[in-house]
Amino acid sequence: MSLADLALPFVKALSPEAAHEATIKGLKLGIGLPKINPATWNTPIELPRSGLTFYNPVGLAAGFDKNADVHRQMARFGFGFVECGTVTPRPQPGNPKPRLFRLKEDQGVINRMGFNNHGLDYFVRRLRRNPANITCPFGANVGANKTSDDFIADYEAGIAAVYPIATYITINISSPNTPGLRGLQGKAALEALLNRCENAQLQAQTASEETHGGDFDGWKPVFLKIAPDLDSEAIEDIVETVRGAGHWLSGLIISNTTIDRPGSLVSHHKGESGGLSGAPLMTKSTRVLKEIASELLGEFDLIGCGGIFSGADAYAKIRSGAHAVQLYSALSIHGPGLVARINEDLPSLLKADGFSSVAEAVGADLR
Ligand SMILES: Cc1cc2nc3c(=O)[nH]c(=O)nc-3n(C[C@H](O)[C@H](O)[C@H](O)COP(=O)(O)O)c2cc1C
Repeated sequence: MSLADLALPFVKALSPEAAHEATIKGLKLGIGLPKINPATWNTPIELPRSGLTFYNPVGLAAGFDKNADVHRQMARFGFGFVECGTVTPRPQPGNPKPRLFRLKEDQGVINRMGFNNHGLDYFVRRLRRNPANITCPFGANVGANKTSDDFIADYEAGIAAVYPIATYITINISSPNTPGLRGLQGKAALEALLNRCENAQLQAQTASEETHGGDFDGWKPVFLKIAPDLDSEAIEDIVETVRGAGHWLSGLIISNTTIDRPGSLVSHHKGESGGLSGAPLMTKSTRVLKEIASELLGEFDLIGCGGIFSGADAYAKIRSGAHAVQLYSALSIHGPGLVARINEDLPSLLKADGFSSVAEAVGADLR
């Protein structure tokens, strides 16, 4: 058990946001960092389309480290990859507090943070000072400012800024806490977004090559992060649009938080507005992953996210079509030791079903 796990009860006694700030401060100071557990290297996976290789398929989801302050520290807990952000072009304070709620009895979280972050300049400065790839693959998740009158221009700016320093980039159009943002998932809007972001990616690649010459480590994969609140028609529209205007994408991250409130919720805070994550999101996000994987697996890399608390949950996402997975809420409920436990459990789950690698198990439930 790491010091960070031991400190969990004290951190939990604070309000959720104060606890998070204390955690980030502690990590910045290097408090509670464990020795890397070799078990976390036991299940490597190569994502076929993007060519990304992870030591293991368990990643940190966006939102924990919005400003790329502690990405290297988080890698030490055994993540196979770490995604930071969402970062917007200009700094913004986010929504008024309180805006983060623990749903203890439901093992869930509701947040309406509203993309609070220090902006692209700070994010890029942090990464130049602490290059990410030394520790593990690093994703930069980009978004739009609340007051922007051209959301797509913000994604273009984000791609341009993070391109030289990220291992991969995520276009996040699925936060429920920026009014209008999820509208970018509609067919016409998504097509416009993807066309303009394709250009942004090409321009960023050319610019990076001109600046860095032979030092530049090449083309950067781009992922699209979508919401779980999509009916079959909306999923079909996304599949068609991604196959067309999104042919240049490497893959999709499925999913962000949900605006649904399942009837099963019992916690005091269940009525708060915002995005629900954690255990109550597992079934829904896995269903959307599976529906999309049944269409796109083989054409795009898929990353499953939503409600992962155990090796069995991660494995269920892999069997449903995910090459890799991400988590956040379980970390805030059970502490960072969870990451190593998931990685320790994965090899035996694979072996029990006769698989000798993660890659063999991807999409097993679709076959
Ligand atoms: C407090 C909080 C903040 C989040 N902020 C972001 C964000 O800035 N960008 C993003 O793409 N997702 C964000 N998310 C969503 C997570 O990345 C993830 O998609 C979602 O929580 C489902 O995974 P989980 O059930 O493991 O938490 C946030 C989630 C939480 C709980």
